[in-house]
Amino acid sequence: MRNSGFLLKVLWLVLCQAAAGSWGQANITSMLAPQADRVMALAEWEERWQEDRIGFHQPHVHTMLENNIDKVLAGRAEVRFFFPLCGKAVDMKWLADMGHSVVGVEISEKAIKQFFEENNMTYNEEPVPAIPGVKVFKSSERNISLYQCDLYNFSSSIEGQFGAIWDRGSLVAINPRDREKYAALIISLMAKDCRYLLDTLLYNPELYEGPPFLVPNEQVNSLFGNSCDIELLSSLDALTERHRGWGLDYLTENVHLITPKSI
Ligand SMILES: C[S@@+](CC[C@H](N)C(=O)[O-])C[C@H]1O[C@@H](n2cnc3c(N)ncnc32)[C@H](O)[C@@H]1O
Ligand SMILES: *[C@@H]1O[C@H](CO)[C@@H](O)[C@H](O)[C@H]1NC(C)=O
Ligand SMILES: *[C@@H]1O[C@H](CO)[C@@H](O)[C@H](O)[C@H]1NC(C)=O
Ligand SMILES: *[C@@H]1O[C@H](CO)[C@@H](O)[C@H](O)[C@H]1NC(C)=O
Ligand SMILES: *[C@@H]1O[C@H](CO)[C@@H](O)[C@H](O)[C@H]1NC(C)=O
Repeated sequence: MRNSGFLLKVLWLVLCQAAAGSWGQANITSMLAPQADRVMALAEWEERWQEDRIGFHQPHVHTMLENNIDKVLAGRAEVRFFFPLCGKAVDMKWLADMGHSVVGVEISEKAIKQFFEENNMTYNEEPVPAIPGVKVFKSSERNISLYQCDLYNFSSSIEGQFGAIWDRGSLVAINPRDREKYAALIISLMAKDCRYLLDTLLYNPELYEGPPFLVPNEQVNSLFGNSCDIELLSSLDALTERHRGWGLDYLTENVHLITPKSI
């Protein structure tokens, strides 16, 4: 008895120290400082597509979407999915083949055309009256509509709200200074029953300038926690040779399920 009381006291003291010290008091501002002012212009993304520097693209369905699809669907059929910064993710075809609808936003016309061509789909191009100068590319075979525009020109007045969102290479890819604006847009696109699957990365931002950028869990909470419930579904070591080549010594991939708080 005396012994276990002593151990509990020691444990308590260690926990108090931790809470008062550096691990307990995560200072988001200082964590983000190395990348806070990094800006990538839209033209630079277009240049990457033109030069085929698209190392982020995966030829297969993303494991984190596949692993968590039941939690995203929650038994629902014909769900309307939103893909911010969609690139040519094959996940869009995978979902549409299952009967869901997909709306994506992507600045690069080359990316959008490659998506349809590589997946053997035909498409129509239409102007979007609500956003002058912008085109939407619609699959003739499936419910897939890809808007070629700056994400911040998109809004719920264009396609309404969504029942699901898959965010991979999106929150981590936008310029760090735009995160509040981005979160406000995403929240405005969430239907009451929306299930938003968000993939983020943790690494030492002193070692690599990004994108993808570091998005700590504390910031996911500060961006979405006021209006949404957030569940960390998985946290896995994702370091590969590609990332070692960037100079990283660790890389953690976190997957969050974000749902509007029921009032
Ligand atoms: C890192 S890639 C990820 C693409 C896709 N989500 C994937 O996982 O393969 C980011 C994409 O967003 C596009 N992009 C970047 N900023 C954008 C913006 N503000 N509006 C629309 N598209 C943007 C880029 O052209 C690029 O294809
Ligand atoms: C967090 O860090 C920043 C920059 O390093 C500093 O200016 C700020 O005072 C710190 N905030 C807290 C609450 O410790
Ligand atoms: C598209 O068609 C080509 C040629 O028939 C085929 O090799 C390829 O596997 C198809 N791609 C998909 C994603 O079905
Ligand atoms: C597109 O979605 C609508 C509404 O969910 C559905 O009725 C229609 O069958 C879908 N079309 C295709 C080609 O999947
Ligand atoms: C698109 O967004 C940019 C910057 O966010 C803004 O300056 C522009 O007016 C927007 N265009 C339209 C048609 O909404």
